[in-house]
Amino acid sequence: MDLLTALKERRSCRNFLTEPVEEATIEKLLEAATWAPSPLNSQPWEFMVITNPEVKGKIFAEGERCRKWALEKSGWKWLGSYSIDFLQSVPVIIAVIGDPKKTGLDMFMEDGSMGYQAACAAAIQNMHLAAHALGLSSLWFTLFDKKALREILGVVPEKTPLALICLGKPERSPAPTPRKDIKEKAIYIR
Ligand SMILES: Cc1cc2nc3c(=O)[nH]c(=O)nc-3n(C[C@H](O)[C@H](O)[C@H](O)COP(=O)(O)O)c2cc1C
Repeated sequence: MDLLTALKERRSCRNFLTEPVEEATIEKLLEAATWAPSPLNSQPWEFMVITNPEVKGKIFAEGERCRKWALEKSGWKWLGSYSIDFLQSVPVIIAVIGDPKKTGLDMFMEDGSMGYQAACAAAIQNMHLAAHALGLSSLWFTLFDKKALREILGVVPEKTPLALICLGKPERSPAPTPRKDIKEKAIYIR
């Protein structure tokens, strides 16, 4: 599959079959992730590959806690019917852990040390695209409290859990999502 096709066809999946993913496939995804760019090539990422049902159960419970909290705070109705049951059935979850010390020369950035997060995001997107090219579906999941996730996964306080990437075969084709026209988003400075 060529890259442009993969990046247009990839969709977030929220219904996974329980069928396991082969370790060789997971390794390919992790390798794809590590080819992402990073500030000073610092490669500020670590990956935790989670298949343990008990740990997935704890992640689900944390997601549910955050979902209910966010529903109460925001009043966003969609959160009431947003099911995260897939966190229990998905065969693999890859936690992406970032190292804020490896963030490059970003003292000129208004938002502080974002370099490591940007690099981890690039690694995550590489994983998504590689997963799609290998016939898997994926989801970038962030509905968790960092402190709680550190405790569940045993991550040291100096490092930051940035995302949970759910991976598996889709139960059904994910719904298409629209995109705004590029004319609304691009300015040419000639
Ligand atoms: C930083 C980030 C965080 C996200 N967090 C969640 C999440 O917690 N739960 C979820 O269901 N989807 C999450 N998503 C997926 C988006 O909802 C999804 O990418 C978007 O709706 C576009 O759909 P598509 O991926 O199918 O193109 C996240 C995506 C990004 C980039």
